[in-house]
Amino acid sequence: MALSVRVADGGEQWLEVAASGSLMQALAAAGLMRGVCGGQAACGTCLVRVERDWLPRLPAMERAERRLLAALEAGDGHSRLACQIALHPRLQGLSVVIPG
Ligand code: FES
Repeated sequence: MALSVRVADGGEQWLEVAASGSLMQALAAAGLMRGVCGGQAACGTCLVRVERDWLPRLPAMERAERRLLAALEAGDGHSRLACQIALHPRLQGLSVVIPG
């Protein structure tokens, strides 16, 4: 499956990734981010902004993710933790921005 990833400093790229594992794992494998806590919703190093059209298609947030986003002052409705987004064929074409 393909993901569209933009980084805050400019470039946009399409990644071909397996439709399994988490978005954080896919982005880390591409060298685009670090997931310091290993996907425990505890570090915030996997923060991404999600294009509005994609938000309703993502899994609902669990309490730990909501709490960390609030602590990071990223509870704007567009930010998610990539480690909490399981990749699935329905997310083909998912578009995210990695903040700088
Ligand atoms: Fe630490 Fe996602 S990898 S919060």
